[in-house]
Amino acid sequence: MQLPPSVVCLVVLARFASGISGQISRQHEPRVETTYGLPLTVNTIYEGPVPTWNENLAVRTNGQILVTRLDSPVLELIDPAVENAVPVTVATFSSDYAGLLGITETNEDVFYVVAAAPFGSDFVKTSGNSSIFQIDMTQFAFDSATSKITGNATITKVVDMPDAGFLNGMTTIDPTAGLVFIADAYNGWVYSLDVTSGEYKIAIDDAKMKYLPSSITNLGVNGLKIRDNYLYFSNSGNPIFCRIPINTLGEPTGPSEIVADIRQVDDFVFRSDGVAFMCQNQIESLSAVSGSEVVLVAGSNTSTLLAGVTAGAFGRSEANSNILYLTTDGGLAIPVNGSVIVGGKIAWIDTEQFSGIGT
Ligand SMILES: *[C@@H]1O[C@H](CO)[C@@H](O)[C@H](O)[C@H]1NC(C)=O
Ligand SMILES: *[C@@H]1O[C@H](CO)[C@@H](O)[C@H](O)[C@H]1NC(C)=O
Ligand SMILES: *[C@@H]1O[C@H](CO)[C@@H](O)[C@H](O)[C@H]1NC(C)=O
Ligand SMILES: *[C@@H]1O[C@H](CO)[C@@H](O)[C@H](O)[C@H]1NC(C)=O
Repeated sequence: MQLPPSVVCLVVLARFASGISGQISRQHEPRVETTYGLPLTVNTIYEGPVPTWNENLAVRTNGQILVTRLDSPVLELIDPAVENAVPVTVATFSSDYAGLLGITETNEDVFYVVAAAPFGSDFVKTSGNSSIFQIDMTQFAFDSATSKITGNATITKVVDMPDAGFLNGMTTIDPTAGLVFIADAYNGWVYSLDVTSGEYKIAIDDAKMKYLPSSITNLGVNGLKIRDNYLYFSNSGNPIFCRIPINTLGEPTGPSEIVADIRQVDDFVFRSDGVAFMCQNQIESLSAVSGSEVVLVAGSNTSTLLAGVTAGAFGRSEANSNILYLTTDGGLAIPVNGSVIVGGKIAWIDTEQFSGIGT
C-alpha cells in the first residue's frame, strides 16, 4: 500500500512515540537552575496547525529564516521582522520524498538540503533515494507587505544517495571548496559531499555516532557543527555530546571524545561565545552546554512551550547575535505527557541574559 508520505510519516511518528518504554543507559537529568536568569523566555513567531513538523532552519544574511518540514517535502520561509508573519512556500519537492531535514549554506544565499526518501517506523528507507538539493536564493524576491514571492529560488538536484540510511543534520566544511558534511543518523556515520561534482564518501565512521541498542530511537548522529577544527555532533540515541578533530577536507585527525553527558538531543547550535544550545526533542527541553556542564534553559518535559524542539540557529546581525531561533514539531516525536501534541512552531529566545554557567 502506498500511503502519501505525510501519512507514512505520521504512522512512523506514532510508532516512534509508542516506543517510550525503552531505557537509555547513563541517564543524566540536566540541573534545573533558577540562577543565571533562567528559564529563558520563549517567544512564538508562528505556530502551525497539528501536525506540523518543523525540522531544521537556516538564517539568511537578510534575517529571513528558511525552515525545512519533515511532515511533507516543503521548504518554507518566514520573516521574523514582520509582525504576525506567516511562512511562505519556497519550494515543494516531489512526493518521491517524505520530507526535508538538514540545511546548510555555502556561498551567500546558496543552501543545500536533505530530501529524505520514504522511511518506515525504524527509520529504514522503504523506497527511492534520499537526495541532496541546492536551493539558490540569490534571485529569490519576496514582498513581505503582500506576502508574495516575486522571484523564485532555483532548485537543482545535486546527487542521489542510494546507500544512505536516514540523512539528518548538515554543516559546511569549506564554503569555497563546496564541501559539506551530512549525518546519516541511522547508519551512525557522516558523509562529506562535494556539492560541485556530486562526489561523496563516508568521511567519519565513529562508534560515538551510533545509537545504543537500548535506545528508544534508531537514530544516532544527528546535529553537526564545526568549531575550532573540531566536528561537534549530537547523538539522539546515546546520551553523549561529542567532538572529533578534523582537517580542512573534513577528514578525522584524531580520536573522538565526549564533551558532555546529555540525553535525547536532536540538533544543536553554538552561540558565538561557545555555549552550545541543545534541542532535546523527545523531552521538550532546551539545554545549554557550557564546558562540560549541562543546564536546562527553557521548556520542560511536561510543557508544550518547546514541545518537540528540533533545531536552533542564531541571528546573524550584530544586533541579534544572541537571538536563538528555534523550530519545533509540537511533540509529534514524543507527545507531551504521553498524549499532548500541539502545532509545530518557529520561536525565538533572547539568550543574552544567560552568559554561561559559573559566570
Ligand atoms: C537512485 O539513484 C541512483 C543513482 O542516481 C539511480 O541509478 C537509481 O535509479 C535511483 N533509484 C530510484 C528508485 O530513484
Ligand atoms: C514561481 O514559480 C511558481 C511555480 O512554478 C510560478 O507559478 C510563479 O509564476 C513563479 N513566480 C515567478 C515570479 O517567477
Ligand atoms: C503534564 O502533566 C503535568 C503533571 O500532571 C501537568 O502539570 C502539566 O500541565 C501537563 N502538561 C500538559 C501539556 O498537559
Ligand atoms: C519528566 O521528567 C521527570 C524527571 O526526569 C520524570 O520524573 C517524569 O516522569 C517525566 N515526565 C514525563 C511526562 O515524561
